[in-house]
Amino acid sequence: VCRHRARMLCSVDGGNASHFMCPYHGWTYSNTGELTGVPYFESYQGRLVKDEWGLQEAPQVDSYRGLIFACWDAAAPSLDDYLGSMKWTMDLIFGRADAFEVTGPPQRWVVDCNWKLGSGNFGGDLHHVPVTHGFTTALGLKATRSRRQSYYVTTRYGHIVSVGCHLDMPHPKPYLGLPRDMMPEYQRNLSPEQFGFMERIQTMAGTVFPNLSYLNSSSHSPGEWGAPPEKEVSFVTLRQWQPLGPDKMEMWSWGLVEKNASEQWKRDSKTCYQRTFGAAGVFEQDDLENWAEITRGLRGAMANRLWLHYGMGQTPSPAPDWPGPPPAYNTDRAMSEINERVFYQRWHEMLYGHPA
Ligand code: FES
Ligand code: FE
Repeated sequence: VCRHRARMLCSVDGGNASHFMCPYHGWTYSNTGELTGVPYFESYQGRLVKDEWGLQEAPQVDSYRGLIFACWDAAAPSLDDYLGSMKWTMDLIFGRADAFEVTGPPQRWVVDCNWKLGSGNFGGDLHHVPVTHGFTTALGLKATRSRRQSYYVTTRYGHIVSVGCHLDMPHPKPYLGLPRDMMPEYQRNLSPEQFGFMERIQTMAGTVFPNLSYLNSSSHSPGEWGAPPEKEVSFVTLRQWQPLGPDKMEMWSWGLVEKNASEQWKRDSKTCYQRTFGAAGVFEQDDLENWAEITRGLRGAMANRLWLHYGMGQTPSPAPDWPGPPPAYNTDRAMSEINERVFYQRWHEMLYGHPA
């Protein structure tokens, strides 16, 4: 924001510029934050020292796999420490290719729901899928799936990941609908354990605490709903659940594609993302309808006093075959709400200074 009257300076989601001029009175800043120009500067009669009125800088700025994070708390842990063991599973997506590119600026829309519903769902709710998104099988749009095994991964700072894997490996190996010609690149970038694990994954979603989530799944390319699994195309969405108050959030949703994949594959992947989890995506609408109805329901005085049940899978067993850093829990068909409990425990800790 501008240091004059705090007007926001940048109103676009993509591009680059050497300077930013405030649209209100014209104070101008370089893209490194220095105040370089002030209209009617002489009228300040020496009371404005430009060097002291640059843009406010976040004390910590760092990046991981091309994702840039800024933090206002100088005493917070470093990004490397903060992401910690979460990096192993993030690498299965963001670290597998030499580079990713966004399919365009983020799609943004406002939803009447609390932002935490997105964070908890993406990081840990595998059991809403057959009900909320049951239309896929009801309408025969999805090919029959193999049996699934689920992994729930939790981390020290409240980041959570859930991974649905094939138990009976279909042939050819699924690799999440990823392009076959990219396999050498994936293999070069991943550890043997990560690459070996990737062939089993059906779907994988995670939340970097508190409100950054991602999802890698696959869907059919245009015109091929209901085709066999090997025709599916992988898509990645990265999203931020941006709070606008307790009962409203702005969704920022990006589609990501492997930079070195073929142009045709990138187009197909982008289409799959848009049809499933873009602003008009069918899965997106399923989820958001539920979250908006929860938020509406909780406005009532009586609902406000209710205790809700988060007890599913109270003691899931540690996964002996999880190839990444522990703790991870697994279930064969059985489900657990452990990840949502970890997320809300961390949220409680942030609010009250101790776990619930
Ligand atoms: Fe930016 Fe006045 S608010 S120049
Ligand atoms: Fe969903």
